[in-house]
Parts: sequence; structure tokens; C-alpha cells
Amino acid sequence: MSDPAESDVVRFKRLAAERAVDSIQPGMVVGLGSGSTSALVVRRLAALRGEGRLTDVVGVPTSVETEQLARSLGVPLSTLEEHPVLDLTLDGADEVDPELRLIKGGGGALMREKIVAQASRRVLIVVDAGKLSPRLGTKWPVPVEVLPFGWRSQALFLEQLGARITRREGRDGAPFRTDQGNFILDCAFGPIDRPEALASRLEARAGIVAHGLFIGLTSELVVAGPGGVEHRRP
Ligand code: A5P
Repeated sequence: MSDPAESDVVRFKRLAAERAVDSIQPGMVVGLGSGSTSALVVRRLAALRGEGRLTDVVGVPTSVETEQLARSLGVPLSTLEEHPVLDLTLDGADEVDPELRLIKGGGGALMREKIVAQASRRVLIVVDAGKLSPRLGTKWPVPVEVLPFGWRSQALFLEQLGARITRREGRDGAPFRTDQGNFILDCAFGPIDRPEALASRLEARAGIVAHGLFIGLTSELVVAGPGGVEHRRP
């Protein structure tokens, strides 16, 4: 039953998460994304387990936060060491363009999210309709994970590529640290003309360990909005 205090956005995330979990089949090894939508996926999976369904499904978490949530709900977990190829990954996104290219990393888990996505046969992205965008960069900066060593040099490099940089801070005002202990530089490029070209520039730079442009990784999208829930397949 829906909670009357639930906002529209949270309701859309929940409806999308519920539909996405329908794609999980018994016995699958499933990548579990990070962020609030992925948390709803994990909760839905746990609820189905409580009804005796999907009890043999194993999850591979993309962040310490997701790992803790899944553990607390009794969802069995594994690792990429045990399962280097995953059947399916369900994850959220911050921005999705018409070609299903993404900006991810609003929660800072981009490195592990990308590793898990690249290790998956299918990647199902789960969003509310507010994440849809005509051009990446319109709504959200590109998170770039950098080693603390030499981070100011990376910030200058990113500025030269046209970004306005903010080093992400944690709640305590200290620099935010990823699960790997790195910094995040949020890079406001504005609408990005050629995401592939930008991704190549970022990948060629030592000190940048991950970026939030996810290109060619999405195999399916579940999006929920005022018009209902839609599952886009290739
Ligand atoms: C986590 O690092 C991100 O990539 C999330 O997938 C993304 O920020 C979406 O988050 P929400 O589901 O909380 O909107």
C-alpha cells in the first residue's frame, strides 16, 4: 500500500524499483546499485524473499552502504571474486539521455557501480521520469573520482576541459571520501555535446580513477512518472 506522506518522486522511484525487480529470475546473481532508488530495489527483493520468492538470488553490492542495507535485510551477498560475471545489475542514475547514456555518481559509488555494470550481462537502469534529459550535463555535474595525490592538478585539467569544479564535501565539512578513500570533483560542464569524447579525455588522465559518464552500458531502462511505468528494452 502506498504511504500518503510519500512524495511523487519517491513514489515513482518505488514503482520503478518494483517493476525492475520483476526482471530478477530465480538463481540469478544480481548487481545491486547504490542510492535511494537502488535501496528500494533491495527492499523489494528482501520483501519478496520474505514471501518465499527469489530465495536463491545472490546480490553483489556496489557500495558499503548497499552492502550494509542488504545484510540488515537478510539478502545473501557475494563478490565479483566469487562471481566475476553477473546475470543482471539493477542500478539508479542521476541523468539519462535518449540514447540511454548516463550520468551516475551522485552518491559517490561510481567506481564500483561501473565495475559491476561492466561485469554484468544485462544492466537495467531504474529511474523516476525527472532523470530523463535531452542532453547529459543539463541537470547534473559529472562526478569525477580522483586520487587525493595531486588532486589540484586534476582540478586544473578539468577546468581546462571547460568544467566548473566543486570538490565534494561530507556532512562534517571535510572532503567526501569514496569507498576507495578518494575525492570526488563534481564537474559542471553544462550540456555536453560529445560525451564519448569527454569520457576518452577523462580516461586518458592519470590520477582520475573513475568518472560518472556511463556510455554503452545500459541495456534496459525502467522509468516511472505521471504517465505510469515503462520498461524500455532494446
Ligand atoms: C550513486 O553513486 C549514484 O550513481 C546513484 O545511482 C544515483 O545518484 C541515483 O541516486 P538516487 O537513486 O538516490 O536518485
